[in-house]
Amino acid sequence: MEIEDLPGIGPSTAEKLKEEGYLSVEAIAAASIGDLKDVGIGEAAALKLIKAAQKSADIGFVTGLDVKERRKSVGKITTCSEELNNLIGGGVETQAITEVFGDFGSGKTQIAHQLAVTVQMPEKKGGLGGSALYIDTENTFRPDRIENMAIALDLDPEKILKNIHVARAYNSDHQMLLAEKASEMAKEKNIRFVAVDSLTSHFRAEYSGRGTLATRQQKLNRHMHALQRKLADLHNIAVLVTNQVMANPAMMFGDPTTPIGGHIVGHTSTFRLRLRKSKGNKRIARLIDSPNFPEGECVFEVTGEGIRD
Ligand code: GTP
Ligand code: MG
Repeated sequence: MEIEDLPGIGPSTAEKLKEEGYLSVEAIAAASIGDLKDVGIGEAAALKLIKAAQKSADIGFVTGLDVKERRKSVGKITTCSEELNNLIGGGVETQAITEVFGDFGSGKTQIAHQLAVTVQMPEKKGGLGGSALYIDTENTFRPDRIENMAIALDLDPEKILKNIHVARAYNSDHQMLLAEKASEMAKEKNIRFVAVDSLTSHFRAEYSGRGTLATRQQKLNRHMHALQRKLADLHNIAVLVTNQVMANPAMMFGDPTTPIGGHIVGHTSTFRLRLRKSKGNKRIARLIDSPNFPEGECVFEVTGEGIRD
């Protein structure tokens, strides 16, 4: 639920509230009448608003058993590399955002393509029997690549392509809108995998000046939360976002590159995979900051048939 959906809030009030930092229903639920008066809302209206927000905001607790029950419906999609699957606990999970970051050519787009194919396989073969949605920001979605991957798995390439819904995002606002649209389509099209490739390229290009960093991070944060709540959680979808790395000259030891979007993206994704190029087709994947798996590394290969051990 957005603050616009609360009773008695018109577009101009919503705008005012957002300007003052009330971005969510929860923020209004936690506000005092005095806080809202400062924004220019009358006392009676403020009281009504806070009550309505508290009613609709999901404030409360569930039991550990409820959480366990919900975790039972988590699905996993095979990457077609046993090693890579094992690293992330069996495959790319639904109800979560998996972030794949690394240099150009490290295999991020290849993994996204592979999952758009494998999600369509039946569960006993490592899929979810669902369809895929691909938000393409860099115009790197390649149907012929999908066909090759499908044929290699004995799947009908035309059928597979038919069940991948592709949208080209032209700028960051458009990209955010597409995520909303995806949520509306999810049920009807039985979408179980969503790729945002790449998550950050538009944001990086549009907000490059010094003074724009805060705005960029705020928008990225909103985008990530929409992906988590309106896709991953609401429709039991596996969301995969790709992210480039940039040189970080301040880093004197260890890895001199950091993923774009920094801690905002990092903290909102459940799984983070760092990819590095190795010899030839080989790639090294490293799992970082996972909630319940040990950090570790594995090697996989990008072949003509797709991702393999
Ligand atoms: P950026 O989007 O540029 O940041 O890179 P990325 O991480 O998305 O790279 P991508 O997944 O597009 O990987 C490209 C690499 O995959 C190429 O350099 C090739 O090494 C490999 N690749 C792509 N297609 C094929 C193929 O058909 N056969 C083989 N063997 N390798 C391929
Ligand atoms: Mg790419």
